[in-house]
Order: sequence, then C-alpha cells, then structure tokens
Amino acid sequence: MNDRHGRTIEYLRLSVTDLCSYRCAYCMAEDGVQKRAHEDILSIEELAEIGEAAVRCGVKKIRLTGGEPLVRRGILTLCERLRALDGLRELTMTTNGAKLGEMAADLKAAGVDRLNVSLDTLRPERFRALTRRGELSDVLRGLDAAAAAGFTHTKLNAVLLGGVNDDEIAGLAALAKDNDYSVRFIELMPMGVCAAFPKERFLSADAVLAAVPALERVGDDGVAELYRAPGYRGTVGLIRPMSRCFCAGCDRIRVTADGRLKPCLHSDAELPLRGKHGAALEDAIRAGAAAKPERHQLSRGSGTRRGMFEIGG
Ligand code: 5AD
Ligand code: SF4
Repeated sequence: MNDRHGRTIEYLRLSVTDLCSYRCAYCMAEDGVQKRAHEDILSIEELAEIGEAAVRCGVKKIRLTGGEPLVRRGILTLCERLRALDGLRELTMTTNGAKLGEMAADLKAAGVDRLNVSLDTLRPERFRALTRRGELSDVLRGLDAAAAAGFTHTKLNAVLLGGVNDDEIAGLAALAKDNDYSVRFIELMPMGVCAAFPKERFLSADAVLAAVPALERVGDDGVAELYRAPGYRGTVGLIRPMSRCFCAGCDRIRVTADGRLKPCLHSDAELPLRGKHGAALEDAIRAGAAAKPERHQLSRGSGTRRGMFEIGG
C-alpha cells in the first residue's frame, strides 16, 4: 500500500479501547475521560475484520494500543485472530504493564510477538504521582513475567519530562545494561492535556546523550535512533518527534477505538471505517493510506484535538 509521497504503508496501530487504568498526567485529565458508550467502541469482531482487511492491503505489522489494551475484554481472542493471518510479520502491543504480571503468559500463547511497556520513572512515589493510580511494583513484576513467558527485546518507553524525570535518565538507560531491553526515550508531544504544559517540560532527547555520554550510535529502528554503551546487552533509543522530523520515513496508519482511520497522528483528518466490510473496507483503508500528509506541523502545535489515549500511541 502506498501513499502519495513515495512511502510504503505497512504498519497499522490499532487502538482497542480508549479506557486506561492509569491517568498519566501528560495524557489524561485527573477525572479521566468521558466514557464513550459501549456501542461507540469497535467490537472484537470489527477490530479483527479491520486487521484482516489491512493485512490484505499489505500491512505487515500490527500494534495493538489503547488506552490500555489489557483492560479490553476479548483482547486474547483478538490477538489469536490476528496472529493467524498469513502475511502478518509481527503482532505487538503497547501496554502500561499494570496487568502484565497476570497476562504475559496468555499474551505469548495468543501469539503476541513483542511488547512495549511504558515506564517513565523507577521511583515508586513518583510513579504513583505521574500515573495518579499506578504501582511501580506491578509493572516491574509484569516485566519479569514477560521475560519468564519468553518475551525478548521488550521496549520500555520513557517519555522525557523536563523537571519531572530528567534526573532519572541514566537510571532508566541502565535498564538496558543487564537486560536485552530497548529503553526508548520519547520527546513529549504537545497533544491533549500536555499541550498546556510549561515549556520546561518539553525536553530534547539530546538530554539523554548528555546524561549518558558513553552512548554510541549503532543504527536506527523505525523512528528511533539506536544507541548502545559498551557492555550493554540492550539498546537505548531516542524518539525525536520534536527535535527531528521523521515523517519522511513514516510507514504507519492508525485506527481509533471508535473505528476511524487516522492517516497522521497530528492531523484531525479521519476516515470512518465502521459499517464497511470486505472490498469496501479495503478501499477505505487504501484511501486512508493515500491521504497521509507529507509531514506534520508540530512546530505550530499538534493538529489533533484528541489525546494520545484516544488515538493509540
Ligand atoms: N508525547 C509523547 N509520548 C506520549 N505518550 C503518551 N502521550 C504522549 C505525548 N504527549 C506515550 C506513552 C506510551 C506511548 C503509547 O505514548 O507514555 O508509552
Ligand atoms: Fe494510560 Fe498510557 Fe495514557 Fe498513561 S499514557 S494514562 S498508561 S493511555
């Protein structure tokens, strides 16, 4: 599947719910979100149908996101359905890790190939404050359970928050020392609630290179610049939506939990997929890929009114 700017689109990020067990300060308002009516959210059957149609259109990789995908009922059934697709190279999931302790083995058995786990701090108190209801120990237990279940190369996502967790950069990066983790530092994007954050919260990923001078560039992984320090088993990744524009290499489309295809994270352009089946659904997905803008205009702010939990990281 191609867009109009010479890019091949083979990556679908499918949001399975806009609900989350956490309320990360940069993602959701304290009082959470207005709960959408159950019928506004795609059913497991609809999600599977969209995944299947996308793979027929040439998608090779599907990431399940949220909100928090592990709070979605039927998630394992969906994983099994998608994993059974010929032509799908990789099925991955982004999770906050809270339920990973109990679900890691089931996810592995259902065919999930790799996990991204959000982890912005290693301090229990700070974790509680940042997520407003999470327990760091749950996530750490979840990471152990994932490793025990056979997951390798787990990615740990840390959003860089100036004045909040920038004193922990070295400690977070060090998680890649004895484990095969890829610790990825992500520049905060001004979307949803954090669009109103003070300037000092927005930190360039250069701060990581300053905090861990031993890091050496070893390549790229999708949108991430990859680094390694001598003796590290894993890698450190920098994702720089703000300080670098990686739109030219963008190979993804997104589908929101309410069934709308988003050609670009930072645009409010959306195409409704609900009620479409078979060839009509494929046509809509191809049209969505074709409609990808050449690049975002993040320097003027994100063009989307939706928060990350509504779109799916
Ligand atoms: N900027 C950058 N990353 C964000 N995430 C959520 N909101 C933002 C934002 N405004 C991250 C989460 C999670 C991933 C899906 O996206 O921390 O790791
Ligand atoms: Fe939930 Fe992820 Fe948003 Fe945190 S960043 S509130 S874990 S969706």
